[in-house]
Amino acid sequence: MNLPDLEKARERSNKEILHKDVLPLVDDTLKGEKFFIRTYGCQMNVHDTEQIRGILLNLGMEEVDDLEKAKVIVLNTCAIRENAHDKVFGFLGRIKHYKKEHPDVIVCLGGCMAQEESVVKEVMKRHPYINLVFGTHHIHELGQMILNASSSMDVNVTSEEGCVYEQIEYARDSKYKAWVNIMYGCDKFCTYCIVPYTRGRERSRKMENILSEVKRLKDLGYMEVTLLGQNVNAYGLDLGYDFATLLEQVALIGIPRIRFVTSHPWNFTEKMIEVISKYPNIMPYIHLPLQSGSDRILKLMGRRYTQEEYINLFKMIKKNIPNCAITTDIIVGFPMETEEDFNETLKVARMLHFDGAYTFIYSPREGTPASKMKDDVSLEVKEERLQRLNELINADSKKSNEALVGKVVPVLIESASDKGDDIMMGYTDTMKLVNVSGAKDAVGKIVNVCITDAKSFSLDGEMVK
Ligand code: SAH
Ligand code: SF4
Ligand code: F3S
Repeated sequence: MNLPDLEKARERSNKEILHKDVLPLVDDTLKGEKFFIRTYGCQMNVHDTEQIRGILLNLGMEEVDDLEKAKVIVLNTCAIRENAHDKVFGFLGRIKHYKKEHPDVIVCLGGCMAQEESVVKEVMKRHPYINLVFGTHHIHELGQMILNASSSMDVNVTSEEGCVYEQIEYARDSKYKAWVNIMYGCDKFCTYCIVPYTRGRERSRKMENILSEVKRLKDLGYMEVTLLGQNVNAYGLDLGYDFATLLEQVALIGIPRIRFVTSHPWNFTEKMIEVISKYPNIMPYIHLPLQSGSDRILKLMGRRYTQEEYINLFKMIKKNIPNCAITTDIIVGFPMETEEDFNETLKVARMLHFDGAYTFIYSPREGTPASKMKDDVSLEVKEERLQRLNELINADSKKSNEALVGKVVPVLIESASDKGDDIMMGYTDTMKLVNVSGAKDAVGKIVNVCITDAKSFSLDGEMVK
């Protein structure tokens, strides 16, 4: 397979990675002021926002839900598809208006869009009132940037991908579930994907630092950790160890629930499957992006596996990890995708019965190899394929949920659901959302729940005493 960007990735990977501590920033200037954060994108961004919140709380600031009460506004953006961009530019329209009336408000644009040259140029031209543009490699410097903010735009987006930062103080969303970064960046260079450009080279945290973070979380009473990376299977390869070893060491710490995202099907080792099946506190749930069922398209995407290899891996996981749920990501309408190619995707989905899937219409990203390919599938056909795929996926998802009706499953109760204060919400070990009655006093606990009803995207259940 011709993957020219791999050479570039190897070149970057040969340079030594520095592991540095973030020094806490002590300053009272903004004490008592309010901040507002809006987050777009994946779990990485959600977790980065916990770092941003940590920095601002450390400055003595308070978080508000209402943009119009804030002195500091932070947008943590995503660049994965065009509609992610559109949402941010739409929201910036509102901020522009607000900033006109409140010129001393500090507006900060960060995240993956800030790493895109074309976005920075557009922001400079059309949104000059933005005070700070900070890239994914400069989050730890945000506090100082805010303190130094002036009326002219400060742009800090250089690549610092040779560094892994430690001692980050997160202000986490939950007291029970925590994200734990195990690595940063991505070197896979799937041809459609912008992430390797916005997040930089693949670099792992040292195992001892991850383990001590998980131990701290356990001591604080956390019930669940999710190990985060764009491709966790590649964890540690740059430092001489592997993901299965890390996973086992994390399991031995004894936190009740361990999850991880995302696993690329390439490099998913038998040792990983062994470790997952051996430890009951590693949850039987794997997100395993398929992207396409057609070998021709998979090759054009640079995904490094065939339909057959994906199916074999899927079956090996199902055989060895009892009760394992598997979800996936699928892109429709990739350049040159024919009806025949799309039918291969439908065939795989029909054969494997995913527990759920995130499905997307292909969106060309500037600077990626796929954006230079012929995007020749009409929007009408893309939409029609998405609809056909979703019908199949939703029916399977409902079926896998229906199979749980009448069964008793473990659920970590998180909070009140959107069905009212008496109904709580939580997730099963297999990552299915459940609305639970009779569990008002069980927040933060893993309880047994008898499933009473199944829908496509959620379950209803009653707590069993
Ligand atoms: N690292 C993860 C994916 C992160 S991006 C992995 O490889 O599995 C999440 C999902 O967004 C991808 O799995 C893919 O399905 C989708 N995606 C990425 N780039 C896209 C693009 N240009 N157009 C449409 N969907 C895209
Ligand atoms: Fe993007 Fe995931 Fe591929 Fe990395 S592995 S390039 S993040 S789709
Ligand atoms: Fe989006 Fe960046 Fe995540 S592009 S999907 S926020 S890594």
